[in-house]
Amino acid sequence: MDSQASAYRLDHSAIQAQLSTKRLGKVSGWDNELWDCLDSTNNRALELAAQGAPEGVIVMARQQTAGRGRLGRAWVSPADSGIYASFLLRPHCSPKELPLHTLACGVAAAQAIWDCVGIKIGLKWVNDLVFNGKKLGGILAEMPSYATHKTAETKQSQLPALIAGFGINIRFTQTDIPEELQHKIAWLEQIAGQPINPNLVLTSLATNLEKVYDDLNDGHTNKILELWKDYSVTLGRPIRAVSGNTTIEGLAVDVSDTGGLIVETKDRTQVVLHAGEITIRGANGTYA
Ligand code: BTN
Repeated sequence: MDSQASAYRLDHSAIQAQLSTKRLGKVSGWDNELWDCLDSTNNRALELAAQGAPEGVIVMARQQTAGRGRLGRAWVSPADSGIYASFLLRPHCSPKELPLHTLACGVAAAQAIWDCVGIKIGLKWVNDLVFNGKKLGGILAEMPSYATHKTAETKQSQLPALIAGFGINIRFTQTDIPEELQHKIAWLEQIAGQPINPNLVLTSLATNLEKVYDDLNDGHTNKILELWKDYSVTLGRPIRAVSGNTTIEGLAVDVSDTGGLIVETKDRTQVVLHAGEITIRGANGTYA
């Protein structure tokens, strides 16, 4: 393939040449994987984690046949249309702090897009990358349930794994998108009005992820929360959250130090949401 064509699809040698991280994607004895087609990069990264792969390995695919979104949804992943990548991390964190790590991943993605494309995207709690109200990408952060309990003697490779899976839309044609999603999705080339090199976005994502992740591990939680708030399109907005038979409506006022969304309801009670999905009330009074 000529270099012009390879600039516009994920390319293993371009990624390796451009990676300027210290640890992520640079694990001695373990190659980053780029597949032409895979069911799901998160599934493959979970498999590697179960085999004891160390922190830092990246699994990428040009196409996914069973890409997974949150809440059991499918993630539409046509060939060479997006970044489908999962980072294997082994942080010192408990499942309770998973929302915080998801927020940090969102910050890393927003910063990568800013660095490569010069566009400031928005972050919708907990994991949506948005532009003008349309979904540009999402993050699926998973901690496998076999995770071991850590002690002071636990080796890094035995720490619980956290798989951070990123889906970022780069280029779509209308026919790629199911009818019901047509007005809800945005992609980078459409916003930027020019071709985007996914290898640059991916390597910048790795750089920014390493930074936010080091900050979290060093205890600089507030720094990450402040960065997230700067990109937030959720805080200050009326939201609705539905979980089973319970519906909560109120104003999204803040995020907690574990990444939960603090919502103030009509009777001024504060409720912290730790999971699930929210919709934001628009000017016409409907939630989307
Ligand atoms: C969401 O917004 O619901 C999260 C979407 C996450 C999609 C990515 S694509 C790469 C990785 N592999 C998957 O199967 N899912 C994530």
